[in-house]
Amino acid sequence: MSVKIFDTHAHYDDEAFDEDREELIKAVHEAGVCKIVDIACSMETSKKMPEFINDYDFMYGTVGVHPDDIYNLTDSDMDELKELSKNEKIIAIGEIGLDYHYDDIDKELQKKWFEVQLELARELKLPISIHSRDAAKDTLDIMKALHGEDIGGVMHCFGYGVEVAKQYLDMGYYIGVGGVVTFKNGRKLKEVVEYAPLDRIVIETDCPYLSPVPFRGKRNDSGNLTYVVEEIARLKGVDVDEVYEVTYANAHKMYRI
Ligand code: NI
Repeated sequence: MSVKIFDTHAHYDDEAFDEDREELIKAVHEAGVCKIVDIACSMETSKKMPEFINDYDFMYGTVGVHPDDIYNLTDSDMDELKELSKNEKIIAIGEIGLDYHYDDIDKELQKKWFEVQLELARELKLPISIHSRDAAKDTLDIMKALHGEDIGGVMHCFGYGVEVAKQYLDMGYYIGVGGVVTFKNGRKLKEVVEYAPLDRIVIETDCPYLSPVPFRGKRNDSGNLTYVVEEIARLKGVDVDEVYEVTYANAHKMYRI
């Protein structure tokens, strides 16, 4: 069969692609990457997103501010995100969430802007792409308190165990699986993939980051998703074709396109 891939989380606007962006995106598209969602992570990348994705008819985008970039955010920035989201190819709010990995960003401020952007997604009726690292409890507390089950979306680059996965699956969320599933030390994610129903898994690169084995440490791109699909198929004991087909359909359902 001809392979069809939906990369649900990429950062092709990153400077790591400045040298060869156009040729690379054309090449991965021809190799079977039928759709890509480019994910914003700051006000700056959000503002540029409509124009960036306009160059590629198979590319969609998001607007939103990553927890690393919340300093200096204002209410008028939220008005601007709302305005930007009116573009029909902006299909989600993200990536938003909590990141406690480095101790340098005020946790209360992170929570505040996560909550504000959750409410923005609810108002706009758009799904969310959640970034959550070393913040399992607080993320879940907010999602429960604010009825995240009414918003929908994906736990991008899922980094927690089966117990936490179950909670998000119960709320109707999809599990984002990328290169980490191929890592030798990716046992936790492998267990989550074994546990989660295939029809609730979406694939993502997070490129330029998180290249799968055998390219770990190198610049990532959507073409490498074949390695992620192979590992998911192995863990679930199904055919690679089934993984391609089901995750492709899942991504459309998740992003409502
Ligand atoms: Ni990302």
